[in-house]
Amino acid sequence: MKGVILAGGLGTRLYPLTHATNKHLLPIYNKPMVYYPIQTLVNAGITDVMIVASGPHAGHFLRVLKNGKELGLTHLEYAFQEKPDGGISDALSLAENFADNDSITVILGDNTTDADISEPVKHFQRGAQVFVKKVPDPKRFGVVRFDEADPSKVVEIIEKPANPPSNYAVTGLYIYDNRVFDFIRQCTPSARGELEITDVNNFYVKEGSLSWAELNGYWQDAGTFDTLLQANMYWANKQNPGFIESFNKGL
Ligand code: DAU
Repeated sequence: MKGVILAGGLGTRLYPLTHATNKHLLPIYNKPMVYYPIQTLVNAGITDVMIVASGPHAGHFLRVLKNGKELGLTHLEYAFQEKPDGGISDALSLAENFADNDSITVILGDNTTDADISEPVKHFQRGAQVFVKKVPDPKRFGVVRFDEADPSKVVEIIEKPANPPSNYAVTGLYIYDNRVFDFIRQCTPSARGELEITDVNNFYVKEGSLSWAELNGYWQDAGTFDTLLQANMYWANKQNPGFIESFNKGL
């Protein structure tokens, strides 16, 4: 199994921070953000990885990650997304040759988690697997609608719904078989002009081959000021227990 980290986009939600560098190189406690998804892949035994970057600071990745050896990667490859905000599926389409007809584990570069996905990676065979997490603010995410008669079944995923059908967000961790690239070719741009990963996931839902599991551990999409700060707090506290307590005492 190979891994793909999608680190394109312009990070406009984080302006002015992202004028100077790429969002995925901003710090989360003592490491650049992109180290976290790399670590998740390495922990799952995936060391052959492609990073898709875009925008004016794409070259910064090379300076920070080099050939990936220091992070435990055996092979690190880069791709450049020409339309920087063409969408997650557009970014993923660049990994087709790299995937080489194999299945792939995909992580969005702004997602940090300490969940262990090694078992689902090991046992994956066909279709798509998504990881969901209960969230207080589902309108920000792709949200799962479960079958009313059989709640273990996903009937639809809705991207940023005005009226969320559940509190379960689809996190930015996915496992796909190689047909993902055919499904991407069938996608058309959404209202926000992007090729959406949710449309790709819904192809698998319709086919009955999408499975899901709850992500077991901390998870945060660090793409806004508040969630970036929260992720910093979590990882600071994890590596330095008592950090949040002493922070609160100082208030
Ligand atoms: O974090 C989970 C959520 O991520 C999911 O619940 C949503 O279904 C999914 O669409 C996505 O939503 P966001 O609005 O958070 O996506 P965002 O535009 O922030 O992009 C997330 C990452 O994907 C970004 O850090 C890098 C990568 N990306 C994004 C775009 C738009 C690319 O590589 N290229 C792109 O063109």
